[in-house]
Amino acid sequence: NNDLTVLGLESSCDDTAAAVVRVSDGQPPQILSSVVFGQNDLHADFGGVVPEIAARAHAEKLDYCVRDALQASGTALSDIDLIAVTAGPGLIGGVLSGVMCAKGIAAGADLPLIGVNHLAGHALTPRLTDQLTYPYLMLLVSGGHCQFLIVHSPTGFTRVGGTIDDAPGEAFDKTARLLGLSQPGGPSVEVRAKLGDPKRFRFPRPLLDRDDCDLSFSGLKTALLRTRDTIITEQGGLRQQDVNDLCAGFQAAVTDTLAAKTRRALRKYLQKAPQSPAIAVAGGVAANQAIRSALETAAAEHDTAFVAPPLALCTDNAAMIAYAGAEVFSAGERSDMTLAARPRWPL
Ligand code: KG4
Ligand code: ZN
Repeated sequence: NNDLTVLGLESSCDDTAAAVVRVSDGQPPQILSSVVFGQNDLHADFGGVVPEIAARAHAEKLDYCVRDALQASGTALSDIDLIAVTAGPGLIGGVLSGVMCAKGIAAGADLPLIGVNHLAGHALTPRLTDQLTYPYLMLLVSGGHCQFLIVHSPTGFTRVGGTIDDAPGEAFDKTARLLGLSQPGGPSVEVRAKLGDPKRFRFPRPLLDRDDCDLSFSGLKTALLRTRDTIITEQGGLRQQDVNDLCAGFQAAVTDTLAAKTRRALRKYLQKAPQSPAIAVAGGVAANQAIRSALETAAAEHDTAFVAPPLALCTDNAAMIAYAGAEVFSAGERSDMTLAARPRWPL
């Protein structure tokens, strides 16, 4: 039989993670454990992820993550069939820590090793959680990524479009910083947006005139900064209602842009006429209720199923790496002790 029990490692950004996933023929994959050590506290004073601090923390935490993931899964290293590790893209120090750790375990336990593309991990998650069949459309929206992919196979992806500058999560985080709200910015901006008037300030929706699926979010930050400064000059400061209205206007602009480009991506994808079309989302920004329901509406308009994995599997985790490792391995790919960390690794 083709049962595979996979230990996955993830350390490409600011989460150190390990997980054990079991993949068996004719059964939904099982997440036996998924352990994530976040580094938010370590980077909080710096207003962003500091690569050097992240790399050190990954190197320190990986062993404990592996130990905890094995313990929580009720398996021992001797039950594991495959080691899967994020080999990129991401911060070089973190990716290196993960790859070194995985090589050590693979060599020590004499197990096969597979290097996984972090983006493939996100992109295959809807198969882990919802057993989606190929091909499906995928929207990755996080602090670091923003792209539309048609997922054909574990190693076959067509990039339909994406941001030409910032990722939307980055824009949420910058907005929070400009308005004195706490990090990560997404949740705090969303809370304020609910209390605000999205029509009071009209922020740009760039690239909507272009008939492609590309997006841009850097102009939004500049527009927000300018509007904020105008209010401060006119009123001598920002009132709570101003902050709420700015958040609402900002969120509406991001939502409209994402929804419009999602409609376009759906049209391109549907030209390939899949039998049971589906669009899935992943990434922290997919937690946003307004964005989520706008995407759901766009999917419904195109008679396309909308799949949003549980948030813990939308954001960085190692279960997605273990699962993607199993798929890529079953498709015949192999890595060995020459596996290199690839800070840039396009799909
Ligand atoms: O996927 P993720 O945890 O990490 C990576 O970037 O890989 O995404 C984090 C990003 C942050 O920028 C955060 O502000 C954003 O997702 N985010 C949100 C929300 N929750 C998290 N953005 C908008 N609305 C939210 N509710
Ligand atoms: Zn990610």
